[in-house]
Amino acid sequence: MYDKFWSTEAGYNQSDPNITKFNSFADFFRCKQCHGWDYLGNAGLYINRGPRTNRPNVASGNIYQIAKTKTPQELFNALKKSEGRRDISYDLSTYNPTTNNVEGDKMPNLSQILSDAQIWEIMKYLKTEALDVTQLYDAIFTGTYPTGSASYTNIEKDGNADAGKYSMHKDVQLAMVLMERHSLWKI
Ligand code: HEC
Repeated sequence: MYDKFWSTEAGYNQSDPNITKFNSFADFFRCKQCHGWDYLGNAGLYINRGPRTNRPNVASGNIYQIAKTKTPQELFNALKKSEGRRDISYDLSTYNPTTNNVEGDKMPNLSQILSDAQIWEIMKYLKTEALDVTQLYDAIFTGTYPTGSASYTNIEKDGNADAGKYSMHKDVQLAMVLMERHSLWKI
């Protein structure tokens, strides 16, 4: 759900009329584009992932912390609310990072595209499965979005490392760790 909530794997109805829109403007709907695999938004791994005409700005805010501090009901309400959210009817083909980014950068109005049960699933995922990345590695961020940079040390802090990973470039190791934890890639 966090990667691509409209996928078959996530159980989304493939006959939904919005599927074409989700696929054409995927990065405007994928949680991970705006919040990062590490949930740290533009202060994390995506500190240098600037916007393009087909990709919005990365959001500020740490949704791992937000999910931790809110009660399940509060988090559900925050995900479901319509105020401050982008309407599904908004034409994303007009997005331009410098001249027309306000609506595109907004969080999609999930109440228009997901059922309460699906929003509850995402809430549960954020509360119980989202990882505290500080347990996985040490990160040092320099500069500010979108021109900052990140470096990582001590990858696989918790000692599950397999020796082969250490011959790879640090970014590749990190991507593997995150993908493995998100079950996108079973090693
Ligand atoms: C196009 C960018 C974008 C996408 C896609 C997006 N968000 Fe957001 N999200 C934001 C922005 C910007 C904020 C901060 C402003 C706000 O709360 O409205 C935010 C806020 C949040 C918050 C905090 C809400 C609060 O009231 O504190 C949570 C939790 C969250 N997003 C989860 C998600 C999840 C889960 C998904 C995927 C289903 C998602 N977001 C998709 C941009 C996005």
